[in-house]
Amino acid sequence: SKRVAILTSGGDAPGMNACIRATIIACQKAGYTLLGYKHGYNGLLQQEYISLSLDSTHNLIQQGGTILHSARCKEFMHEEGLLKAAHNLKKARIDSLIVIGGDGSFKGAAKLSEHWDGQIIGIPGTIDNDIAGTDATIGYFTAIDTAMSSIDKVRDTADAFERIFLVEVMGRNAGFLALNAALSSAADYVIVPEFFSSAESEIEKLVSQINAQRTLKGPVSFIVVVAENVWPNGLAGLTDALQQRNLQDVRPVTLGHVQRGGSPVAQDRLLATTLGEAAIRLVGKDISNVMVGEVNQRPVTVPLSETWKNTKPLNEARVGAMRTLMNERYNQADN
Ligand code: F6P
Repeated sequence: SKRVAILTSGGDAPGMNACIRATIIACQKAGYTLLGYKHGYNGLLQQEYISLSLDSTHNLIQQGGTILHSARCKEFMHEEGLLKAAHNLKKARIDSLIVIGGDGSFKGAAKLSEHWDGQIIGIPGTIDNDIAGTDATIGYFTAIDTAMSSIDKVRDTADAFERIFLVEVMGRNAGFLALNAALSSAADYVIVPEFFSSAESEIEKLVSQINAQRTLKGPVSFIVVVAENVWPNGLAGLTDALQQRNLQDVRPVTLGHVQRGGSPVAQDRLLATTLGEAAIRLVGKDISNVMVGEVNQRPVTVPLSETWKNTKPLNEARVGAMRTLMNERYNQADN
């Protein structure tokens, strides 16, 4: 009978627990033993693991965070750490290792495979959705939802004072979360890395949009969704730039880590459950160093290296919709 181990690594994401739950039940059905390493790759280095059985599964599908805890493990990126991890996996007689995480975690897993001949299976889990080879990542849908409802609330106070609000949304170096949060909350403007050329040209466009609205309607609120890590000096830099253009009443809001928490929405639970079950199906098969993802609602396997070498583009239709609908209240089509 196979011995399977699972860990969650890097930024936690809502739905990771739902995925763990699916692997526990699927392993139980297949007669496999399942261990859970705690604190990401740190647990692998410290031999810190727990046994995961059916009594761990109650209510797990709806819990945010990860019961296995997570970490970004520097030691694991070095040869010495990798050798230690490989040694520990052999000692624990693990046949298959399942890693739920983002691209940093997948790079670590691929490196580990150079030192360990067991089976490695990745499952995409990050609110950023920045993993190629899968339409979505576990946690992404919940994070959109959280950002959307936060922006809805910001709008109430923005309208009351007819203020400009800058709302920073997570996503690391990708605009998936920002674009989809902006589109679903009918924000007036969005700034994402995929379309950012320079602060100078962007500020021109933004100021002219705000001024066009205000010329037409008088003082009105204006909500700008800004992806993190795009604007030089972040929201403070953008607030300054607007103030220099005589737009004084500006309030910056950083949504931050609230976007990582909360009970997963149905779409994340479904993705997490399907991928967890699909991963256990692969145990013992002659396939390794792959991610299990979903494309057009079907499970796919993709070599781990392709998940970070390729860049996943933003959905074109969503980009088009945002371009048309920005400022739709004022009939000002953006280009
Ligand atoms: O990758 C998930 C993420 O939340 C990113 O959106 C963000 O840039 C980063 O992690 C924040 O990292 P930390 O939790 O270490 O502050």
